[in-house]
This record gives sequence, C-alpha cells and structure tokens, in this order.
Amino acid sequence: MFITFEGPEGSGKTSQIAPLADFLREKGYSVVTTREPGGTKIGDQVREILMRLENTSMHPRTETLLFLAARAQLVEQCIRPELERGNLVLCDRYADSTLAYQGYGHGNNLQTLRQLLDFATGNLWPDLTLLLDVDPEQGLRRRRAGGDWNRLDAYTLAFHKRVWNGYHEMAQQDPQRWVIIDASQSFDAVQDQIREIILKRLHSRTA
Ligand code: TYD
Repeated sequence: MFITFEGPEGSGKTSQIAPLADFLREKGYSVVTTREPGGTKIGDQVREILMRLENTSMHPRTETLLFLAARAQLVEQCIRPELERGNLVLCDRYADSTLAYQGYGHGNNLQTLRQLLDFATGNLWPDLTLLLDVDPEQGLRRRRAGGDWNRLDAYTLAFHKRVWNGYHEMAQQDPQRWVIIDASQSFDAVQDQIREIILKRLHSRTA
C-alpha cells in the first residue's frame, strides 16, 4: 500500500512519519519511508537546486519540471520496486504537492499538470493520502520558529493560502483517497489519529 502525507508548511508531517513507521513495524508491517523532493541520490541533487534561497529567478515551469524529474527517479528507483515487494511505502509529499504548489499556488493549468504527473510517475497514484491541515499563517510561523526556511517558504502568504485552498479542494473531490487531519492538535493526538486511520485501511484491505 502506498500512503502519502501532504500539507502546508509547518504542518508537522515530517516529524509524524518516523514514530508512525516504528509503530507499524512493531505491528509486523514492512515499512519504507521516503520524502520529496529527493529520496534518491539524483533526486537530492535536484532538491538542492529547488531549495536554494538564492535561486529567486527560477521560473514556475522550471520549478515544476524539476519536482517532476526528482519524482520520476524516486518512483522508479524506490517506490515502485518497494510496492512490488509488498512493502508499505510512506512518502512525505508526492504528486499532490505539485498540484497544490505549482498548480493552485502558481496558477499552472491543473489539467496539464495532471498529464505531466501521469507521465512522471508512470501513472502511480497513492492508495491513501493524509492531509495534515494547519492554517497557513500558523504553519509559516511554526516553520520560521524552527529555523528551517527555504526558497518555497519565502513565497507570499497569498501563495500559501492558495496552496491550502487547493489541498482542500482536492480532498473534497476525492474523499475515498484523502483524509483530513487537524494538525493544530497536540503531536500525540495527531499521531494517534494517523495510526488509527492507517490500521483501519490496512485491515480493510486484508479482510
Ligand atoms: P521541505 O523542506 O521538504 O518542506 P516540508 O517539510 O514542508 O515538506 O520542502 C519542500 C518544499 O517543496 C515545500 O515548500 C513544498 C514544496 N514542493 C512543491 O512546491 N512541489 C512539489 O511537488 C513538492 C514535492 C514539494
């Protein structure tokens, strides 16, 4: 099963994934975690270009294609082979980030992006997507306080609000795949909720 974690900046998804993976491994599942952009040697080099604060002149189409390039490599080198081995793959961001940021955020055509995403991923879409939902202003504040500020965080608040709206629109359009989690709750409450949703999904698959 392929599970992705999405959300605006500072939603805390990255810190939720490690304890979740440990918990699922204790339950006997074979779990692989990865992240975007990056997750492979080639992808990490692309990530460097994307995140560098000095790359302010990067055009949104360039940005889009670099995210897709990193993802194509990650899918073929890691995600697809792991799924074929029957492993559970947890991915920190995936194709929906491109729709949210480069689509809703930058205003690139969503239909075109979906076609490009099908191409880049070889039509691999997640079985389950958890949206860790946090108000964009609160998320950016958390991110700034954490000291880990990158080129995309530096986009305007209006941009991040469009990203947030985009996530909600996508979640509403496909409620079978998306589950929204209120990420303004305590860390433990969010972790418990994520565990419960994933175990339920795993059990219903084997039932
Ligand atoms: P990262 O430091 O990994 O942030 P986060 O913890 O929020 O995931 O930075 C990833 C940034 O790249 C984040 O701002 C979201 C953005 N992004 C896109 O714009 N498009 C994409 O397709 C992906 C995967 C990420």
